[in-house]
Amino acid sequence: MCGIIGYIGPNPAYPVLINGLKRLEYRGYDSAGISILDGTPKVYKCMGKIQDLEDYVSGKDITGSVGIGHTRWATHGEPNDINAHPHTSRDGHFIIIHNGIIENWDLLKKELERNGYSFVSDTDTEVLANLIEHIYLSGDIKAEAAVRLALTKVVGTYGLVVICRNEPDQLIAARCSSPLVIGIGSSEYFIASDASPIAEYTKSVIYLNDNDVAIIKKDELILKTLQVDEPKITLQNLNIETGKYEKDGFDHYMLKEIFEQPRSIADTFRGRLVPDQSDIKLGGLHSVLTQIQNARRIIIVACGTSWHAALIGEYLIEDLCRIPVEVEYASEFRYRDPVLGPEDIVVAISQSGETADTLAAVRLAKEAGALVLGICNVTGSGLSRETHAGVYTHAGIEIGVASTKAFTAQITVLTMIALLLGNKRELITGDKYRSLIGEMHSIPSKIEVLLKQDAKIRSIAAGFKDVCSMLFIGRGYCFPVALEGALKLKEISYIHAEGYPAAEMKHGPIALIDNNMPVVVIGIRDKSYEKIVSNVQEIKARKGIVIAIVSEGDEQIASIADHVIEIPSTNIIFSSLLSVIPLQLLSYHIAVLRECNIDQPRNLAKSVTVE
Ligand code: F6R
Repeated sequence: MCGIIGYIGPNPAYPVLINGLKRLEYRGYDSAGISILDGTPKVYKCMGKIQDLEDYVSGKDITGSVGIGHTRWATHGEPNDINAHPHTSRDGHFIIIHNGIIENWDLLKKELERNGYSFVSDTDTEVLANLIEHIYLSGDIKAEAAVRLALTKVVGTYGLVVICRNEPDQLIAARCSSPLVIGIGSSEYFIASDASPIAEYTKSVIYLNDNDVAIIKKDELILKTLQVDEPKITLQNLNIETGKYEKDGFDHYMLKEIFEQPRSIADTFRGRLVPDQSDIKLGGLHSVLTQIQNARRIIIVACGTSWHAALIGEYLIEDLCRIPVEVEYASEFRYRDPVLGPEDIVVAISQSGETADTLAAVRLAKEAGALVLGICNVTGSGLSRETHAGVYTHAGIEIGVASTKAFTAQITVLTMIALLLGNKRELITGDKYRSLIGEMHSIPSKIEVLLKQDAKIRSIAAGFKDVCSMLFIGRGYCFPVALEGALKLKEISYIHAEGYPAAEMKHGPIALIDNNMPVVVIGIRDKSYEKIVSNVQEIKARKGIVIAIVSEGDEQIASIADHVIEIPSTNIIFSSLLSVIPLQLLSYHIAVLRECNIDQPRNLAKSVTVE
């Protein structure tokens, strides 16, 4: 959550900081601040968006070629000017920006209070700033040593960057569970919570590992650990296209990303569905394919939208490969002492690759000796570094907080894995395998067709902008899609929404149905089609309003539903890639009509790096 940017070099720091914060605003957007050093440090911070910070800073002294910036998603203390980062220690020796949570802040604060410290903010970060200062002033030590010593007393998570007033020619950065990446330029360094604000300046980056401490000077980068040992450094080439951050004429990133899905799905299978359509090659899994093929069971861990993709993965892998699959919320899995061993295969799915609970689940699975695979969208992220093997989704950077194209890219990868394993296990052979691969090729063009219904979906949305609640139901592959449709609606429009397996209606939710309750039914033709037709009739008999997502040419549901959106015909295993698109558009248009902040919904942040 929160975004960090830092710069040290020969150039003015301010443009790097402010542009970096704009790139990072999707991570947190309740307040922001910067500190720039030109001999003496200046700190400017305020509640609100980056634009508010820019307005606030306008006309003030922003000279300096060393600086740090932060965009906040509040954990300790409400969003306001004082709680915004950077935080300055009592005597002004240290200025700090921090992502994460200091869990023992209360104990540390009391200890500091006994030593005469008082606090102006409600944040755990100010406690840390004062702790570093207290240690610094108590002994004849360098700032870097004070930071390292202070961090040994901290319980919790952090990605932080510190400026010391007396040592103005350096930034000190440290990481524990909250990502930090250093960009290496020519006589200049950048530091950020993810690579997006750095990519336009350099392709050379180092991802800090937990317990790393970096002392960054204009012409020198020293890497230590909390325990002083030098860590291994990996220089990586960034695989990020810098020109892709614009909205390209769309009103919102979310809409742009919805419309990008024909391309992002094709990018995800490009080079993997081999040209003559006879096979699937997943290089990242090559070395472990036999082990996966012979798996006793597969456990998939994820959060949020990625968890919905995991459910679709369960259906695909069980259907096509007959390997038992369990899907777990990473947050539950990590704390509930799951039965795990070296014979297990754990697949972690995460768009960002930095979700704290998912990474913790990965570590737990590795400790238990399981083979751990990742499905991830961000090159160099924690997930990609911590898993034994994996497959990247090539969705491109996703800026909209509500995940759309990452979801369909995850399903694309899961579908390829299921088809490949099904073939290796001789459950999908010859012609069938080729024809399914061929059909997968046609998905992007089918989505293009679906997207042409945008205006129709917008006009349907107009009838639902003032509802209080909405239900989403489906069976089989359509059930996780119903969950995802409900999540999309609630997170961006703030309308209460629930997703259910359609048959569960009778076990409770049907009591909610009356003439004010819209129900989105995902009723794609498959083996349980007749059952879902009955569910639609049951809803209509109670005067519920039905918006139906149906297969092309459907007549049965179409004749009873109030609104009908058709999706192009496809094999049911690919249907979720299509049926989710109208749900994304429906949520988007409802939220626009309600004048919600589409790309930055309240209380949310793109990457949940604290638990
Ligand atoms: C919803 C959404 C979130 C994320 C979840 C996991 O639209 O984006 O529910 O899916 O926070 O994030 P990742 O996939 O980055 O681990």
